[in-house]
Amino acid sequence: MRTITCGTLTLLGLCALTLGAVRGEMAGAGAQGGIPPEVVAGYVYAIVQADRTLYTTHVVERMEELGKALATEQWKKQEALPLPAQMLLMAGEEIKGQGTDLRIRLASLWPINKANGPADDFERVGLERVAKEPKRPYAGFITQEGKRVFKAIYADRAVTKACVECHNGHGLTGKPGLKLYDVMGGIVISFPSP
Ligand code: HEC
Repeated sequence: MRTITCGTLTLLGLCALTLGAVRGEMAGAGAQGGIPPEVVAGYVYAIVQADRTLYTTHVVERMEELGKALATEQWKKQEALPLPAQMLLMAGEEIKGQGTDLRIRLASLWPINKANGPADDFERVGLERVAKEPKRPYAGFITQEGKRVFKAIYADRAVTKACVECHNGHGLTGKPGLKLYDVMGGIVISFPSP
């Protein structure tokens, strides 16, 4: 916040003018800056998380309960549904394909798929932080290809038994012995922000 004192400005009119100009400048900056990046990331996260939860419960688990289909890693080659993680990663690719600068992905310090490991130090530190404090996202600015980018990491938890069972049973997991509600990784959301 900028503080203005009019003490040195003897002419009241000039002081009022100066304040007006500064207010205008600040209002202009506000309009330009728009919604704070952490709020935007929170909105994006809400959509991503809602889709992830609904896909897991109302499609994957429901089809399994009805004996209709299973979600498997090799879903393309089998009569199966994509895994929830694969759906999120594909959505991230789809968004990229639309030509926007918004990026979403799933990452973990103990990934099954090495490509889902932390992409940089910011992600490594962030994933460690959300593993300890899942309720609070880890967020900040980084420079990527010369652009100022806002990045936020939200904890991704083992919300159903299926998460734990599949990951623990997967030969490539970096962390066997996961329990229900453990943090398994994070949803990473980023976009350029001035
Ligand atoms: C049937 C098996 C299966 C189930 C169920 C499953 N996952 Fe995964 N998960 C995988 C596989 C396989 C990958 C790697 C996907 C890829 O990138 O190709 C993965 C990737 C991930 C990743 C990214 C890091 C990594 O390990 O590569 C996270 C985080 C994750 N899953 C969390 C969850 C959560 C939370 C749930 C429950 C809501 C869940 N998974 C359910 C198999 C599963």
